[in-house]
Amino acid sequence: MKPIKLDFNAHALRGSLDVPGDKSITHRAIMLGSLANGTTTVSNFLPSEDCLCTLEIFQQLGVPIERDGEMVTIEGKGASGLEEPLKPLYFGNSGTTARLMLGLLAGLPLFTTVYGDQSLSKRPMDRVIQPLQQMGASIYGRDHHKRLPLAIIGKPLSGMTHKMPIKSAQVKSAMLLAGLHADGQTTVIEQTPTRNHTELMLRSFGISLETENNHITIKGKQQLKATKVNVPGDFSSAAFFLAGALLLQGSQLVIKNIGLNPTRTGMLDVLEQMGACIHVTEKNETGGEPVGDLVIESGTLQGTTIGGNLIPRLIDELPIISLLATQAEGKTIIKDAKELRVKETDRIKAVVDVLTTLGATIEETNDGMIIYGKKALTGGYVSAYGDHRMAMMIVIASLITKQPVHIDNLSCINISYPNFIHDLKQIVI
Ligand code: S3P
Repeated sequence: MKPIKLDFNAHALRGSLDVPGDKSITHRAIMLGSLANGTTTVSNFLPSEDCLCTLEIFQQLGVPIERDGEMVTIEGKGASGLEEPLKPLYFGNSGTTARLMLGLLAGLPLFTTVYGDQSLSKRPMDRVIQPLQQMGASIYGRDHHKRLPLAIIGKPLSGMTHKMPIKSAQVKSAMLLAGLHADGQTTVIEQTPTRNHTELMLRSFGISLETENNHITIKGKQQLKATKVNVPGDFSSAAFFLAGALLLQGSQLVIKNIGLNPTRTGMLDVLEQMGACIHVTEKNETGGEPVGDLVIESGTLQGTTIGGNLIPRLIDELPIISLLATQAEGKTIIKDAKELRVKETDRIKAVVDVLTTLGATIEETNDGMIIYGKKALTGGYVSAYGDHRMAMMIVIASLITKQPVHIDNLSCINISYPNFIHDLKQIVI
């Protein structure tokens, strides 16, 4: 494939924009709406490749779902209304679809086979399969039942307590969705809070759930009631423009209607530590999810240390935070982030490779990286590693390089933000 030259001739980012709906919340809205009884409407649905995969899966499972742009209507018939699919279900590139669907399908009386793209087929599924097997699930597949493709022979499950060895909202959510159909109650114990969209949305679908001291308990055999879901803007998508505005002097940007769930906004805490000037206005709430507008001005940044319990609250923002760190005064250390190695690509290796090629001084560590600022970026030929968040980070980097950046692929951005380049062009001056 011919490399693409990124040429935005940007001086600053100015104006105001809405970013599309949150990816994590969109997946959950389709899943819970399909399990509920009655008509669920989802507004500000994110029409990205990952979320369309989830939507098509439920259509294959016999759920009538209509989409008109960002408005989706689901005619749920309850979990017992799901039909056995005649063909394998395709999870594409989507880790969230894969992990949550395994939990959801394991306890239903259906036989399903599931597969994903090349990247997803390499990613670990045992983190959900092992605890699900302890609940009684029958899941078989490649690499000693650890990786896609997999076959799921749905059967009755028994509730249990699972103390999660890793910090993962996908594992927690898979267990809660399995617990919903299991006998008795299921408790998930987290070491530290991870994104809690599943818990909030289960409640808005009428499910009772106890959450205390990082213990989340759900009683089995509950029935979801259809509702209206309004998906807030995706903080993880906004993060790229936020970073662009901080990097380009003279920027002034408002990003509207963004999901500001504290389990997702660790980047705001880090940026405050780094000395950035960001305000939140128009605070509101939808479906238990806090939302607001972000007001950003360019400024100077200081290096910092990022680790511990903060990591799950900004895990998807670490590539773009790494770029910011190259332009901060002093050293930035990212640690306790080994999970980055099992994302859409090994994001520690990918970030270090890309930023080094672009002229940064950055060292790979076992569980993160050390970035030495403040280093002017040059330019060069880089790969997005087929990873949407790497590609968007590279595009933002190209706004500040002295020479052009050439990237091997931009189409992977469609995984989470198909209109990213279009929206960027609206605010570049
Ligand atoms: C997600 C959870 C996170 C995150 C992913 C989306 C979710 O993954 O990185 O992009 O929607 O639950 P982990 O649960 O693997 O940390």
